[in-house]
Amino acid sequence: MAGGDFAGAKAAAKALAFHGSGHVLHSIFWANMKPGGGGEPTGELADAIKKTFGSFEAFKGLFLATTNAVEGSGWGLLLRCPETGMIGVLQAEKHENLAVWGKIPIFVCDVWEHAYYLKYQNKRPEWTQAFMDHLVNWDDVAKRYAAAKK
Ligand SMILES: [Fe+2]
Repeated sequence: MAGGDFAGAKAAAKALAFHGSGHVLHSIFWANMKPGGGGEPTGELADAIKKTFGSFEAFKGLFLATTNAVEGSGWGLLLRCPETGMIGVLQAEKHENLAVWGKIPIFVCDVWEHAYYLKYQNKRPEWTQAFMDHLVNWDDVAKRYAAAKK
C-alpha cells in the first residue's frame, strides 16, 4: 500500500473482520467449556438470566433454538450490552455477520460443522444439546459476565 495504492483495502478489512471475529469467538468458546460441565449458573449471572428470560429453562430453550437456526456456519451468542446493562441472545453468521455494535459476548456456541460433524454428523441440535448439558463452564461465563459489567 506504500505510494497510495489502496486497491486491497476492502479485502483487507473484510479479512480482518472475519479472522479477527473468529479468533475472539473461539477464544471465548474454549474457555466456556470444561469436561463434566453443564448444570446451571449461580450468583449474579443466574439472577440476570432469571430476570431477563424468566427462568434458566426458558433461556436454555431460547439459546438452543437461536443457535440451531443459524443459517450456514456461525454461532449462538449470549451477550451483555454495557449501554443498557441487559443480556440477550443473538446469532453470528460466519464469525462476523449479524453482529450488533457494543454487545460483549460472554457465552458462545460454535455451530460451524467442524465443531460437531465427526461425532454428530449433520445433527446440529444433538451437538448443541450436548454442549449445553455436559460442557458449559458456567464459572467462566459468570466471570465474563462480571467483567462485562465493569
Ligand atoms: Fe470453530
